[in-house]
Amino acid sequence: MREQGGPDEDADRPREKGSGDMLTTRFTELVGCSVPIQQAGMGAVASPELAAAVSEAGGLGMLGMARSGGRTVRGLRLQLNRLAALTARPFGINFIVTPESLAEVEPGCFELAASSARIIEFFYGWPNRSLVDLVHQGGALVSWQVGSREEAVAAAEVGCDLVVAQGVAAGGHVRGTIGLQALLDEVLLEVDLPVLAAGGIGTGRAVAAALMAGASGVRVGTRFVAAAEADAHPEYVDQLIAARAEDTVYTEAFSTNWPNAPHRVLRSCVAAAEAFEGQFVGETLDLDGTSEKLRRFGSLTVTRDTTGRIDAMSLWAGESVGAVNRVQPAAEILRELWEEAETQLRSVSVAQAVAPV
Ligand SMILES: Cc1cc2nc3c(=O)[nH]c(=O)nc-3n(C[C@H](O)[C@H](O)[C@H](O)COP(=O)(O)O)c2cc1C
Repeated sequence: MREQGGPDEDADRPREKGSGDMLTTRFTELVGCSVPIQQAGMGAVASPELAAAVSEAGGLGMLGMARSGGRTVRGLRLQLNRLAALTARPFGINFIVTPESLAEVEPGCFELAASSARIIEFFYGWPNRSLVDLVHQGGALVSWQVGSREEAVAAAEVGCDLVVAQGVAAGGHVRGTIGLQALLDEVLLEVDLPVLAAGGIGTGRAVAAALMAGASGVRVGTRFVAAAEADAHPEYVDQLIAARAEDTVYTEAFSTNWPNAPHRVLRSCVAAAEAFEGQFVGETLDLDGTSEKLRRFGSLTVTRDTTGRIDAMSLWAGESVGAVNRVQPAAEILRELWEEAETQLRSVSVAQAVAPV
């Protein structure tokens, strides 16, 4: 693996067009990226190629570890090698930590992850000190994506370096039950850590709004599903492009292999799965190339390797989906987001400067 870039490396790095000191935040300083935007860990969609492209463009790319076969040391190493061939910039690794998912993580995975990435992130399990200590001992920072003030406080108490506040408009599995603005207010009042805002953020205006509200950065998921480097099935991406915020639904429909876990998907896939007659909607490949049958109403990330009734599978989508208009390189998505955010933030500061006292 090539060495990870630290905060000081940015000093020699040419500043991307439009980038200014305005967007240096506690988050960018902590992780050593130049743009306060994190690409969400999104299972297999968050491929090494996507994470590397986002990191190379100045954001924080995240490798998703929810894919079958991805939670073995061999699977993780394969993905880290692909990533290392593409970037030496800081990146993170995301793990789902339900009891079932944790049981599938092979011993040695967290240690390997912590010695390879700048930040390790956990989601969907109550903050846990032993995991945090393990990652710190391995040399990485720890982030926890949370859905409530209580969970954010618990993350801070067990020693996390960063929290992600996830509002209910988020795509994929949703820990949050309230709107992002209200959650952010509650978390920022209680926790003295850099806080990222997540859920429904797909435009530079929304990025600017979150920063103005006190977030140290934002986490963007759905918008990056349509990145050229993401491992998302083209039919899934086409459906995202056609959809608007009101075409998503917060539901527990896709629960056969992950019960009691609310999520947000395209409304159309719930209807298609309901109408589907049969036990299996298709198949997908794990990292080793082994085929896996997909149950109706199963929770999975629909990759390019997936075959069958794509329309009836869990098509995760946040309310940010209205901002997904075409397939774009990840670097272009990132640039659009932060250039528009900077313009918005500048217009606010100009308006404040000229406003009569
Ligand atoms: C396709 C997809 C897969 C996701 N998978 C994961 C995951 O594996 N781990 C995780 O922490 N969050 C996952 N999420 C949730 C994101 O971390 C994030 O909270 C969400 O994408 C933010 O909302 P947005 O999609 O409107 O940007 C996923 C989201 C999407 C859209």
